[in-house]
Amino acid sequence: MNKALRPAVIAGNWKMNKTPAETSALISEIKPLVANADCTVIVGVPFVDLSEALEAVKGSKIGVAAQNCHWKESGAFTGEISPVTLAGMGVEYVILGHSERRQYFGETDRSVNARLTAALAAGLKVILCVGETREERESGITAEVVRKQIKLALQNITGEQLKNIIVAYEPVWAIGTGLTATAEQANDVCAIIRACTAELYDNAAAQRLTIQYGGSMNAKNAAELLAQPNVDGGLIGGASLVAADFAAIATAASK
Ligand code: PGA
Repeated sequence: MNKALRPAVIAGNWKMNKTPAETSALISEIKPLVANADCTVIVGVPFVDLSEALEAVKGSKIGVAAQNCHWKESGAFTGEISPVTLAGMGVEYVILGHSERRQYFGETDRSVNARLTAALAAGLKVILCVGETREERESGITAEVVRKQIKLALQNITGEQLKNIIVAYEPVWAIGTGLTATAEQANDVCAIIRACTAELYDNAAAQRLTIQYGGSMNAKNAAELLAQPNVDGGLIGGASLVAADFAAIATAASK
């Protein structure tokens, strides 16, 4: 299987932006602009905006993602959100292991694995984020860092479950900084992730895996990044908050 046969997936990560009312409004703006996009389009909104998002995407093919979930179905975890609750609401995707969660909220490869296991068990599809810091890249250990993140996140995940996982390669130094990995850098690391998946599972599983690039992807640089043989989509922060820019990226990803 080659790139042309893998689903292209463009996902917006809205982070801690937009009220419920603003969510409805932005999705209404995005909807007509992506109606003809030949790729999967997802919006990842704050928890409290999920109901509005699910309502607003009706009549379109836009999927809705949460930005995190807990590793238990229920229990004494004040302030946390269960993957079962998300799935029960009709949420289809969850973003896990984002570098901001690793950096500010103590997320580790182990906790990412636990959340991922629970999310899949609840029937959610997962966008699993990995990526190196600037220091790690400058030390020449990008491949090791990303391989370790992938191996630990996917521990005890079966080949069948892998079909419900999208990997997002997001170099931490490129997130929200305006610095984008070159198309070659993005492709190289996405290829490393694919090779690592082939080692863990098999080549067919690795060839099926959708791998996104994320980190200052925008309407201008998307086409070049998305043209790379191992880059199958994008996880987009800032530019996903502007309907026209997000739609332009979805158009660039369309096959
Ligand atoms: P950015 O964020 O596009 O604003 O760099 C990407 C992300 O954090 O997913």
